[in-house]
Amino acid sequence: MQFVYRPQAPDAEKLGCLVLFLAEAALKPPAGLKGPLRTALTRALALKEFEGKPGQTQVVLTGAPAVPRLLLVGLGPAKALEREKLRRAAGSAAHALRGMNLAEAGVWLPPVADAALAKGLGEVVAEGVTLGAYTFESYKAKKPTGKDAKAELARVTLFDPARATSNAAVTRGATRGDAVCLARNLGNEPANAMTPADLAAAARAIAKRRGLKVRVLERAQLERLGFGMLLGVARGSRTPPKLIVLEHRPPRAKGTLAFVGKGITFDSGGISLKPGQAMDEMKFDMCGAAAVLGAMDAIGAAKPAVNVVGVVPACENLPGGEALKPGDILKSFKGTHVEILNTDAEGRLILGDALAYAVKTFKPDAVVDLATLTGACVIALGHYATGAVTNHEGWQAQVVAAGRAAGDVVWPLPNFPEFEELLKGKYAELQNIGPREGGAITAGLFLKHFVDPVPWVHLDIAGTAWGVKKVGHQPNEGATGVGVCLLADLAANWSKPKPA
Ligand code: BES
Ligand code: MN
Ligand code: ZN
Repeated sequence: MQFVYRPQAPDAEKLGCLVLFLAEAALKPPAGLKGPLRTALTRALALKEFEGKPGQTQVVLTGAPAVPRLLLVGLGPAKALEREKLRRAAGSAAHALRGMNLAEAGVWLPPVADAALAKGLGEVVAEGVTLGAYTFESYKAKKPTGKDAKAELARVTLFDPARATSNAAVTRGATRGDAVCLARNLGNEPANAMTPADLAAAARAIAKRRGLKVRVLERAQLERLGFGMLLGVARGSRTPPKLIVLEHRPPRAKGTLAFVGKGITFDSGGISLKPGQAMDEMKFDMCGAAAVLGAMDAIGAAKPAVNVVGVVPACENLPGGEALKPGDILKSFKGTHVEILNTDAEGRLILGDALAYAVKTFKPDAVVDLATLTGACVIALGHYATGAVTNHEGWQAQVVAAGRAAGDVVWPLPNFPEFEELLKGKYAELQNIGPREGGAITAGLFLKHFVDPVPWVHLDIAGTAWGVKKVGHQPNEGATGVGVCLLADLAANWSKPKPA
């Protein structure tokens, strides 16, 4: 999608549609809307059908050849307007535009009282439009061409008569939206087209585009370095595992951040096989990896003054003849022995090795991992919040704040010391599962063992990585790209966590 910024009202432009955002108590044409467009809008509002409710949209035909349609989009109560509401409204607008036969549309940026919000208007609207316009249709028959062809939305002009925002803000928002869409694409690809090697290729492409350093550790190197847990999970598949590392290293960096993302490209459960019901969704078990790669793309573009390392352990979890068996004991990268009681608790194994490697190799000041780690987290929090487990309250508060600002909502889970006792093994130092109850917490605490004492937050995105319904900028099906904006914001507003 191409965005054009114009610090003025539309005048003679030809636009397939002009989008107008209207708040509930302010249902009137914006000052500066003239001629037949103003008349059409006034008539439409007189019908009192459009109420300005959040997510509400209505198409108004104008009779004016240059701008044949208006699209009204509700913002909800004007007083409660905030970044996320604007992002969702922009997303709803793009959803509606996608259904129209047009190549070009205009958006009239609404007047916003709050100065900071007004300044970021271009960013949040460009981001929301990019996200709302997203589709994943590469495996569907091509759309009709010739006389039956429908135009596809390719260019959006943002009109800003108040001159509140800027071209730079619009570019930032579009770039961030594209990074989220990149993560969605990685997630939506089926497991036969998104293997560990494909994830590595995606990382190399990002590195090339953004000037990042990239390294991929292959099976032989992983064996030499002692990645016992990652290799253990990978044993059930003929597809080799990879450890993917991307680095953003700016001059005068103020510290180092490490992001680690679960890259199970398909999770069958292994010998502890999952039931068949919805097993296809386990192609999304690499959405933590997708978030890290998408974030590295956004960070490579924004170039914040902090070192950022993205680490992705990637493999398949399959029940092949050499697969890991319940009762097997693995020696981790850190040296700890882990008794495998359920081969379906594989995410924590590959992440444990990747976290220990990241801590040892890059000596980060703070770490965040993202993983579709437990069904228990979906039961606890549903689809609208990511669960968090931490060893450092202050760092967790920073992560929660970044999530709130970015629209990736994070909810801390309690972690009482009693939970850690539940992971002590019978025949080894650790076992890979606790009881069913509190499963999202014990999974997080398993990881803690491999990062301590570095400030760390684990984000369980099992509920938020796909399956989110009825949110303006989210797709109705498939991967959401959750975590990309949160991680990008953490890097952009980096400050070292205070000692606990
Ligand atoms: N990838 C799954 C978690 C998952 C399940 C995410 C459903 C989203 C939807 C993970 O590897 C897993 O299988 N976890 C097990 C852990 C259990 C064996 C302790 C689970 O949640 O059932
Ligand atoms: Mn599993
Ligand atoms: Zn899994």
